Amino acid sequence: MDLSKHAFFEGKIVPLADAKINIAVHGFLYGTTVFSGMRAYWNEEKKRLFAFRPYDHFHRLLNSARMMAMEIPYDEEGLIQLMLDLLKTDDWKEDIYLRPTIYKADMGIGVRLHDLRDEYSMFVTSFDKYLKNDANAHLTFSSWRRIDDNVIPARGKVSGSYANSALSKTDANRAGFDEAIVLNQDGHVSEGSAMNIFLVRDGVLVTPPSTDNILEGITRRSVIELAREELGLQVVERSIDRTEVFIAEELFMTGTAAQIVAGTKVDYRPIGSGKMGPITAKLRALFDDVVRAKHPGYLKWNLEVP
Ligand SMILES: Cc1ncc(COP(=O)(O)O)c(C=O)c1O
Repeated sequence: MDLSKHAFFEGKIVPLADAKINIAVHGFLYGTTVFSGMRAYWNEEKKRLFAFRPYDHFHRLLNSARMMAMEIPYDEEGLIQLMLDLLKTDDWKEDIYLRPTIYKADMGIGVRLHDLRDEYSMFVTSFDKYLKNDANAHLTFSSWRRIDDNVIPARGKVSGSYANSALSKTDANRAGFDEAIVLNQDGHVSEGSAMNIFLVRDGVLVTPPSTDNILEGITRRSVIELAREELGLQVVERSIDRTEVFIAEELFMTGTAAQIVAGTKVDYRPIGSGKMGPITAKLRALFDDVVRAKHPGYLKWNLEVP
């Protein structure tokens, strides 16, 4: 992973080495930080980078900020402009990942959200696969439960809540699995440590609804549209029982970092044939074309980086 040489920090573009926060900063002490993870993809034929759905990422970021009583002087369009300005400073010619963050920037002790200054920052990194085994991942049900929306906003991307994701991810990896499936307090399937989940049941694509403590994934939303419009599939958003996972024909997980991961085994039980299923394979190929601005029907999601 190569980090960008520059970052946006405290109102301007600076060398990454100078984008430092103090150990007494609130966002560091209390996890009072919200963020997004976005990608821009390199299109080799066009020799151009294309950011994938940046407006939607910044919209979700600003919604996360709203939940956490944060205010910054930029709207979605302003944040897109700052992103383009930052991308101009480093000459990226590969797939990259962008990490915008809004954090409580005042220093000192005192748990609260109000009467604190908010800052915006962004850095960039080169990025390939998030999950090495993304074509036949072995998943496990985590013993950790997904944060509840009445504990920390589940549909907000709040950095403090990623302690929950880290617990499930590390325990899954240390036990030899590629990724965790995390249940809600009520025992229904919520999502992975940092990705949403889909099952194919009787040819229908099923995914937990946004009221089941999921992060409202932008990849999830894209996949729902592609499945309906391009594959003609029925997509149902409903609560999912744990044992439905074992009898699904296919399982895949979606996220900006993860993209589309085929889950072919869960706790040693093969899912469907035990190999990547045809719907998952089609969606992965379609998604790769779409994110690289190669699909004429979805250029609305690609922002060309000049
Ligand atoms: C907890 C969690 N769920 C789901 C996702 C997938 O969301 P998206 O597709 O917007 O990246 C992510 C990744 O950002 C995540 O961190």
